[in-house]
Amino acid sequence: MQIDRLERIFLFLTVTLLAGVLMAIVLSVVHDGAELPTQAGRINVAEVRDTAPFDAPGVYETAPGKYQAVIIAKAWAFEPAEIRIPVGAELTFVVTSIDVIHGFQVWDTNVNAMVIPGQITEVSRTFDEAGEYNIVCHEYCGIGHHGMFGKVVVSG
Ligand code: CUA
Repeated sequence: MQIDRLERIFLFLTVTLLAGVLMAIVLSVVHDGAELPTQAGRINVAEVRDTAPFDAPGVYETAPGKYQAVIIAKAWAFEPAEIRIPVGAELTFVVTSIDVIHGFQVWDTNVNAMVIPGQITEVSRTFDEAGEYNIVCHEYCGIGHHGMFGKVVVSG
């Protein structure tokens, strides 16, 4: 048995694996546009409903072609559950939770974030194609987790 030969093989495999993982991260950023959510602020969980903008959840046009969806996540629903915007709109989701940790994922997009009590989650995306995009909670949050969903309706 040649130890140094085996060592070379395992060193090669280790370096190859690390390079592969690094390449996957680089590709997810460069090719798929992955980015880290920004820290959008903190909020007192007990006063969410009395604190702007969460005192009025809904969809607002903030500038021509730009929309903001103010959403409260709670066990087990998003409020509002349906968001309507015109095609081509840039939509910024501003989300917080009034109870436990929830997930916030919009199908067929790279919108994928966590919603943490006390924190404000903010993520933007431009919707260039008309259609219905399901929003799901992808963070286990209790017995009704599987029924926690909403949708973005983009119409042209
Ligand atoms: Cu909310 Cu799972």
